[in-house]
Amino acid sequence: MEHILEEAKSISAEIAEWRRHLHQTPELGLETPKTSAYIVQELKKMGVEDIRERVGGWGVAALVKGEKPGKTLAIRADCDALPIKEETGLPFASKNGLMHACGHDAHTAMALGAAKLLLAHKAELAGTVKFIFQPAEENVQGAKAMIDDGVMENPHVDALIGLHTGCLWKEVGNGEIGVRFGSLMAAVDRFVVTFKGKGGHGATPHLAVDPVTMTATAVLELQTILSRELSPLDAAVLTVGRIEGGKSFNIIPESCLIEGTVRTLNPSTRAFVEERLRAVVSRVADGMRGEAEVEYESGPPPLINDTDFTRTFQAFAARLAGAEKVKEIGEPTMGGEDVAYFLEMVPGTFFVHGSCAPEKGQVYPHHNPKFDVDEETFPLGSALFAGFALTWQQ
Ligand code: NI
Repeated sequence: MEHILEEAKSISAEIAEWRRHLHQTPELGLETPKTSAYIVQELKKMGVEDIRERVGGWGVAALVKGEKPGKTLAIRADCDALPIKEETGLPFASKNGLMHACGHDAHTAMALGAAKLLLAHKAELAGTVKFIFQPAEENVQGAKAMIDDGVMENPHVDALIGLHTGCLWKEVGNGEIGVRFGSLMAAVDRFVVTFKGKGGHGATPHLAVDPVTMTATAVLELQTILSRELSPLDAAVLTVGRIEGGKSFNIIPESCLIEGTVRTLNPSTRAFVEERLRAVVSRVADGMRGEAEVEYESGPPPLINDTDFTRTFQAFAARLAGAEKVKEIGEPTMGGEDVAYFLEMVPGTFFVHGSCAPEKGQVYPHHNPKFDVDEETFPLGSALFAGFALTWQQ
């Protein structure tokens, strides 16, 4: 294990080549057949035998079995891209109108690198490492699809790690590692509320039941759930992003709807906001002689890093890269990540891998057409995955 970072550096060209291939052929959402075929091809080439394809669609699960007994650690890498037209001007830029503008190409390449490193260390590896190559992170469907298709069983996964590369947290600089105890990212829920009234002439509102007024009132009152009912120290966001209703200046429509998102950092707050949202919209509608129909879709849960597990990872990362390279992330983000579905089932940690080098022009944010990451940081990512797999049970 002592030399794992040097070993990772010795395969840096290969890791970069995997990333460039993936970068050139991005695919979207659950539809990642070429990406999956490439992952499988490269895994076979390096000698991974136990590969399960088509897990929950185009997901791939691959096993590296150690020669010593032990538990199973999953290493999760997402592999989907975004509907963004690339403007980096890189020689390996995508030409198909889609783009790896979040670094998931790098995640997959670093995980492939870890697989290659672990194959050379099977004799000292205790237990099994299950690589989970997951499509559809961006639309938060992939993790759930793979779980529903049994990726956490056969063998049963005991713990899981994953990373996000790039420059998501400013305190994690290039080549640095960010860890956080507890919540790192938010639950992502979506709601649609349809206010139903009775259509009529705009000049005779008393003969109609006006769903537009209900909607306007509800949009404001919903905010009071956060400002008046939750502790000011308990983070939550409720955003109404869409209002739709009515066709003409002088017609009271039959219905009007709002669509929005709720973001929370802990499960009890999440349940509370949903319950109160339902109550507030139905009270508003009821108070105005109408009705509110609620469609509430729970997306990924809050991403919560297990404290003990994260402490083990933090100590390991400090040993590997030097304590000065390991930063504790101060604040979570209200963005979401569907790795949270895995971390809801088993202990683990999702860490941040800093990979934006401003001196190389890597100053653009994630999901920007000019987003790019520093390939020189990839060996560190592979070494973190592989080295941790070799030591976490000690
Ligand atoms: Ni991402």
